[in-house]
Order: sequence, then C-alpha cells, then structure tokens
Amino acid sequence: MKTLSYGRATLALMAIAIIFAADEVRAWDNGVALTPPMGWNSWNKFGCNVSEDLLKSMADGMVTRGMKDAGYQYVVIDDCWQVSRDADGNIVADAQRFPSGMKALGDYIHSKGLKFGIYSDAGEKTCAGRPGSMGHEYQDALMYAKWGVDYLKYDWCHTGKRNAEEAYSTMRDALKATGRPIVFSMCEWGTAKPWLWAKDTGNLWRTTGDITDKWSSMKKWKDGTCCELGIVNILDLQVGLDSFAGPGHWNDPDMLEVGNGGMTTTEYRTHFSLWCILAAPLIAGNDLRSMTPEIKEILTNKEVIAVNQDALGREGSRVWKDGDREIWSKQLKDGSRAVLLLNRGASEAEIIVPWEAIGYPGNVSASVHDLWAHKDLGKMSGKFGAKVESHGVVVVTVKP
Ligand code: GLA
Repeated sequence: MKTLSYGRATLALMAIAIIFAADEVRAWDNGVALTPPMGWNSWNKFGCNVSEDLLKSMADGMVTRGMKDAGYQYVVIDDCWQVSRDADGNIVADAQRFPSGMKALGDYIHSKGLKFGIYSDAGEKTCAGRPGSMGHEYQDALMYAKWGVDYLKYDWCHTGKRNAEEAYSTMRDALKATGRPIVFSMCEWGTAKPWLWAKDTGNLWRTTGDITDKWSSMKKWKDGTCCELGIVNILDLQVGLDSFAGPGHWNDPDMLEVGNGGMTTTEYRTHFSLWCILAAPLIAGNDLRSMTPEIKEILTNKEVIAVNQDALGREGSRVWKDGDREIWSKQLKDGSRAVLLLNRGASEAEIIVPWEAIGYPGNVSASVHDLWAHKDLGKMSGKFGAKVESHGVVVVTVKP
C-alpha cells in the first residue's frame, strides 16, 4: 500500500513538472485560434446595413477574390442582425433582412468551406441598441451552436456596473457548455486590461476603442469616453502588450480598414503590415465585391500573412524609435525575424536596422528578403537599411 501511495505521489509530481515544463499552460483551451483568426466582418463598411444577401455575397467574394485561398476563414455578422426576444426568451433575428434564418445562412457559409461568426453584447443591449445577452448567456450560446456558429464577437455596451471578468467568463462557460468549439472574441475595448486576466477567458480581446479609417485620429465617443482611433494611435497603445499574446489568446487592435477609402494605398499597406507584425487577428472590413487590384494585393500578400500566422505565435514589438522612425520586430518559429521599418513622417526617411536591435550579434551574416517586393536582397552583415516613403513601411525577414 505504502509503495503504491509513493508511486502516486511521484506520478503526481511528474505530472506537475511536465505541466510547468510546457511552453504555455492554459486552464481553459477550446483548441481554436492557435494562430490569429482571419476573416471578414460587416461593421467597418456596412454598419447596421446587414442582410443575408450581403453576407452571402461576401462569402462568395471570400472564395472568388482569393481571400479564402490566402487564409481568411470566418464570415462574421456584427451588430444589428437581431431584433427582439420571443416569449421564451430566445433571440430573434431580423426576419426581413434574414428571411431564410440564421441556420440557413450558416449552412451557406459552411458550404463555401468557410466559418460562420456572429455578434452579441454582455449588456442588456448591444451598442446599436439591439437585445444583448445579459441573463440569456446559456440560451444564446445554445442557439448559436444550433445555427452552426463558429465565432462570437462579444461587445461591452450597456453593461452598467457589470464586472468584465465575470461577464466574459459567464459567456465563455456558456459557449463551452454547447460542446462546439467557438472562437470567443472579447470586445471590451481594453477598459479592464483584459490582457492581464483573459488568457483563460477569450481567444482574442480588443485592446483599444474603435478603429476609424484614418492614419491618425483620437475622437472621443459621444459619452466622453475614448475613442475613435487612427491606426498610428492604435499602434502606440499596443506597446508593452506583446508578452500577453500567444496561441489561442491574442491582443486585438481592432478589425482592418484596408480598402474602405479613408487612407492611401501606402497607408493601407502600412496598416496591414503592422497588424501582421502585431500577430493581430486579420479581420477584413471592406466590400469584397468591389475590391481594387491594389487592395486585393495587400489583403492577400501571402508572405506578409505568413508572418502573422507563424506557428510560434509571438507578437512583434517596437525595438527602436527615433521621432517618426520606428523598427518593429517579430520572432518567427525558425529563429528568424520579421522586421518592419516604419516611417510616420511627412517625407522619405532612411532607417537602419543593426542586428543587435533584433536580437542577433553584429558579426552575423543573414539573408534578407523583402516581403512586399517579393525579392531576396542577399546576405548582409551587421545591419540592413532602407529608404522608407512617407507613411510607408519596408518589411523584411532576416534569417542568419
Ligand atoms: C462597438 C464595437 C464595434 C462594433 C460596434 C457595433 O463600438 O467596438 O467594433 O461592433 O460596437 O455596434
């Protein structure tokens, strides 16, 4: 008996040792979003103007415009699909805009080899004033699972004094109880610093207020809280958050505005490159039906997407800043680095990346490859430098 109990204790200790030896230990793991989720969401371009026809045409566009082939998967309806609750408290979709019902829409999206995403809110109402999920979490989660939902974006309007950790854990448990793996996208704008506690709660969490289709902006919301943010304003708010991200749990600097008309092609290339280096979810928000060749080239650049989707799951960080010039670096699984040279200034600027800035000794010789020019630049010793256009980036991999 004694031997047996020692045996058990040893086994238990070994199990603990193995758990602590593992790279990442998560108390909760739904097995999805091991790399940053990629997809499309209706909000940035269409707001409340959603319908089954729109969503179906975007699913079609994902396939015919090369988005699916580049890795985009989730087709997500944001706010305004829901209108009321029935006598049993079940959430009711807008029958005029979604006459075939949500299950049929999910089936259509799945028939294209894509995944289906939906939106709700932890409060009484969504941000657009539709019914929220507060008090109906389990009932809503079951309904979503019945409809074949694969992704839930869960917002934070009309939550009053509700505690964010409690609210998001409740919905996490409700999703878990359905038995369906559903990506859980937390959208509480970074208010309660979710990066500090949400690793075991959500697969991704917004870190800031809403993105707006501008290079720079800091407009307060009507209630005086923060903000509608331009991409460089969002970027600055990501500094210091990189250590909190990893496979299954990502910082979310909000969805992409690429192709929505408010920025130049250069700025959109910068926006996309930065989101890739940040290991951010890549959720496109443009009209896929009228995408120009330049925008398609940005959204489907497989070399830059590979940096975002790298299996190591590291978020890149800012390793150098001098005024408007910055260097961002992301470690990749094969030990190489993706390096982004950013020029925030109004005129062209030269940026030099010494190997020490990206974690290599200066005497190392490394192959440099340009991910926008799709060109090997050759072996370099000690550093790489480039002239970077105003509001532009140069993105390379550096491989010793
Ligand atoms: C909030 C979110 C947005 C969007 C809208 C919908 O502002 O942060 O991303 O979902 O609500 O009303």
